Amino acid sequence: MGKGGVGKTTCAAAIALSLSREHRTLIVSLDPAHNLGDVFGTPLSGKAKELRTGLHALEVDMEQAIKDYLKESAGKLKDMYGYLKAINIEGYLDTIRLSPGIEEYATLEEMEKIISEGEGRYEVIVFDTPPTGLTLRVLALPEISLIWGRRLIKLRKEILSRRLAIEKIQGEKKFVLDGKEFELPSRAEKDAVMQELLSYMEEVGRVKKLQTDPERSVVMPVMNPDSLSLFETRRALNTLKSLSMPIGNIVVNKFSGKKEEVEAITRAETELGRPIRKVPLLEEEPVGFPAIESLSGYLRAEEWLPGKKNDA
Ligand SMILES: Nc1ncnc2c1ncn2[C@@H]1O[C@H](COP(=O)(O)OP(=O)(O)OP(=O)(O)O)[C@@H](O)[C@H]1O
Ligand SMILES: [Mg+2]
Repeated sequence: MGKGGVGKTTCAAAIALSLSREHRTLIVSLDPAHNLGDVFGTPLSGKAKELRTGLHALEVDMEQAIKDYLKESAGKLKDMYGYLKAINIEGYLDTIRLSPGIEEYATLEEMEKIISEGEGRYEVIVFDTPPTGLTLRVLALPEISLIWGRRLIKLRKEILSRRLAIEKIQGEKKFVLDGKEFELPSRAEKDAVMQELLSYMEEVGRVKKLQTDPERSVVMPVMNPDSLSLFETRRALNTLKSLSMPIGNIVVNKFSGKKEEVEAITRAETELGRPIRKVPLLEEEPVGFPAIESLSGYLRAEEWLPGKKNDA
């Protein structure tokens, strides 16, 4: 991850290529403005394409991911609240399509899907992320969802206990909508909303565990050798630390050897507390497979895997 234009996609491609020499690797572009295909010099789609033995690549169709996410959420809503079948929620969905946060949720869902479908097929998945802000919001979602989930469960418990109290006096509650009868459950085991909340919490808990497990995940920040890039990276790393995310080596891309750049790198090394790997500024844009292959020489495979002692 890193600010726009620093070379995230280029470096992610080079790291994936390095890794693919020893591990079955998938590289995934999550940026709604994809250019991973341009970087490799070959068109990509939502379906993994083999670029060479051991290396597959895909670009997530974010429009489709958002549609899928909304459809799935609508399905769950309808299952939980049977009477919503009678009320038209399609109009409501059209509105939430534009709500803040939807893109983040859809991105996280898509990452989860790719990870679970890739199990057994790939040993490493490299995600090329959108610029820092969106990425941090996506990575913060599990934590935020856990906080919300806990509150919602508490609220739901209160609702159920009130229903139970009323039930004890008046008998079981039912209501009729459009000629159909609906029950109002008072016990957690029978309450679809509570069951959905619990299973959602379990799912989010799994994501959070994977995300914070240094043996399985690692964030690789990419920056340029200047002070603005250093400030941005420092802020991002603070957020990542607060989310307990493992942070790997830092790539300083587009290094041309100038004195100010050397100073910026020395500062970065002390202030960020992570080892730095330099990638030179090339005269020509590193576009196309051979160019990425030569860049990958600067980013040796074993340094970018989770669980590796990167401090050597
Ligand atoms: N080491 C390098 N030397 C020269 N040019 C480079 C180098 N790395 C990347 N570039 C060029 O810099 C530009 C931005 O690179 P890239 O698309 O990888 O950045 P990004 O961080 O992924 O950007 P975005 O935030 O838009 O996704 C591209 O034109 C790319 O070819
Ligand atoms: Mg990019």
